[in-house]
Amino acid sequence: MGARKPLIAGNWKMFGRAADLAEIGVLAETIGAAAGRIDILICPPAAYVQSSAWQNRSGPILIGAQDCSPNGADAARTGEVSAAMLADAGAKYVIVGHSERRQIHKETDDLVRQKAEAALSAGLIPIVCVGETQDERTAGKVADVVGRQVRSSVPSQSGAFVVAYEPVWAIGGNSTPTLAEIAEVHALIRETLAGQFGGQANDTRILYGGSVNPKNAGEIFTVAGVDGALVGRASLKAADFSAIILGHPAAV
Ligand code: 13P
Repeated sequence: MGARKPLIAGNWKMFGRAADLAEIGVLAETIGAAAGRIDILICPPAAYVQSSAWQNRSGPILIGAQDCSPNGADAARTGEVSAAMLADAGAKYVIVGHSERRQIHKETDDLVRQKAEAALSAGLIPIVCVGETQDERTAGKVADVVGRQVRSSVPSQSGAFVVAYEPVWAIGGNSTPTLAEIAEVHALIRETLAGQFGGQANDTRILYGGSVNPKNAGEIFTVAGVDGALVGRASLKAADFSAIILGHPAAV
């Protein structure tokens, strides 16, 4: 566990304008030395990936994207952005399979895996999102659903990837699972990865996401098997996001 460097990532979703990118510079100044001990990532909307990567090229904040095309090669795919283009623009990571894409855009496990594989091939680190809905939790299907998503959505070739456990019902609201529930699902994810990748599964960082804020982040970070967080709303303002980062035990 000690070998995995924590990762705290901000997913801006479809929020922010060019003027808001200044928040990333403020964040860089606020977090100070914590950036050496924790990987800090901001994933702005695609339109701003290149400019934010350029603005932060010599700072501690990494820039990532929120989605990529499953197509590895350049192709006639109007509206899509390839992983190679994102890497070229300065991105280091890309989120794939976020529940908003799985639900609104009907993305399947298979498509998510193709995107993760395209990302790896382009030299990006994919952050593969998994998580159950409220109905699935109520029906006692968490292990089935999350296990299936992990088995079918992570890349099959070797290379570093990250898994983010984001219970769909915890996103965008005020409730989170209990710490015991988070620990249980993170253990299940690592066990599933071990079934696929053996001992290498110990190198994979598993993040928690869903209503992480400056108040609850500290205790979530103490949960066994939690290697960081994927943060939505609270990553938009440097003041909130830096409070989350500085609440990580590795920050001090
Ligand atoms: P919130 O932190 O706003 O609940 O969003 C979580 C999320 O979906 C991050 O990807």
